[in-house]
Amino acid sequence: MKALLIKGYGDIESNISFEDIKEPTCGKKQILVEIYSAGVNPIDYKIIEGQLKAFQKLKFPAPIGFDVAGVVIEKGDEVNNFNIGDKVYSRVSGNEPGTFAEFIAIDCNLASHMPNNLSFNEASSLPLVALTTIQSFEKAELKANDKILIHAGSGGIGTFAIQYAKSKGAIVYTTTSTNNVEWVGELGADVVIDYKKDNYLDIVKDIDVVYDTLGGKYTTDAFNIIKEGGKVISIAGDIDKETSIELGLNTFVRFLLSLKRMKITKLITKKSAYYKFILMNPSGSQLKDLKLLIEENKIKAIIDKSFNFSESIKALLYLKKGRAKGKIVIEIKK
Ligand SMILES: NC(=O)c1ccc[n+]([C@@H]2O[C@H](COP(=O)([O-])OP(=O)(O)OC[C@H]3O[C@@H](n4cnc5c(N)ncnc54)[C@H](OP(=O)(O)O)[C@@H]3O)[C@@H](O)[C@H]2O)c1
Repeated sequence: MKALLIKGYGDIESNISFEDIKEPTCGKKQILVEIYSAGVNPIDYKIIEGQLKAFQKLKFPAPIGFDVAGVVIEKGDEVNNFNIGDKVYSRVSGNEPGTFAEFIAIDCNLASHMPNNLSFNEASSLPLVALTTIQSFEKAELKANDKILIHAGSGGIGTFAIQYAKSKGAIVYTTTSTNNVEWVGELGADVVIDYKKDNYLDIVKDIDVVYDTLGGKYTTDAFNIIKEGGKVISIAGDIDKETSIELGLNTFVRFLLSLKRMKITKLITKKSAYYKFILMNPSGSQLKDLKLLIEENKIKAIIDKSFNFSESIKALLYLKKGRAKGKIVIEIKK
């Protein structure tokens, strides 16, 4: 089968290429899926660039891609939640990527039937951003009437997070640039701040939860706008102690991370705040819950651009520019 493979760490264009490789075989608890569409995420280009090698070292050539929608063509003896011909979507295991390919074998607990009202492209755009946000809001215990600031409302995460926070009855503040203000508001955000014109720190006060999708100064500044005892949930900032242990990082790396987050540790104490770095976990059952929300039209898939399989490198380069309006997907089979 045709698959995109990573050949080494470095820039995107010189370190990935298409290869003909053996089709995967299906384990007892796996489904073999013919891939119709693969969602693209920042983690894909960050892995190629070696940004994550301190956490997980690749053996080259390495498969790429985590989000997928397709059709079950074979199933293992112990699979009883899927049948041949079912349309499924998944965020595959972190140890077994490879959705930028024609086929993939997936642990049956990490997949769900696709929402009935979505195309393959739409379904493949959702798993990673949805699971990250669902797990982040769970940690934040987000509830109706909580005020939440979602940074980068126009991005892959932001477009999902705004709709999901509204489905929970929260009051949503979000940031984006001038050209995106109108359509981001149409996703349901209550207050859309144009970061090119206004400083969000002057507008947002006493917030219950900040969903930090940007990291750096955005993480530390979050503590200036949360209420006393408020929560900062980050997917792009400093890794907290608990997560560094969960990741199995060695003592030296954990020590370096603790030095790096010293400023945050002080801010947590000053504001009696809660801080958590979320590293998403794949989950078929959460995708099953999401299917219902989507079929009730509470959440739409927002796709900026779809690329053909042969244009996968272009898709990664486009996403890396950091200006996506929603999600980028690769159409593998038409
Ligand atoms: N920890 C985890 O498990 C996890 C999971 C998923 C994602 N992430 C991380 O979360 C981050 C966001 O992911 P994503 O998929 O949303 O990325 P993305 O789709 O590439 O984000 C692009 C968006 O960011 C917006 N943006 C850029 N700078 C901004 C700023 N200063 N203020 C407001 N908006 C800004 C852009 O809007 P404008 O063009 O209007 O500026 C654009 O719409 C990435 O770093 C990703 O690696 C982590």
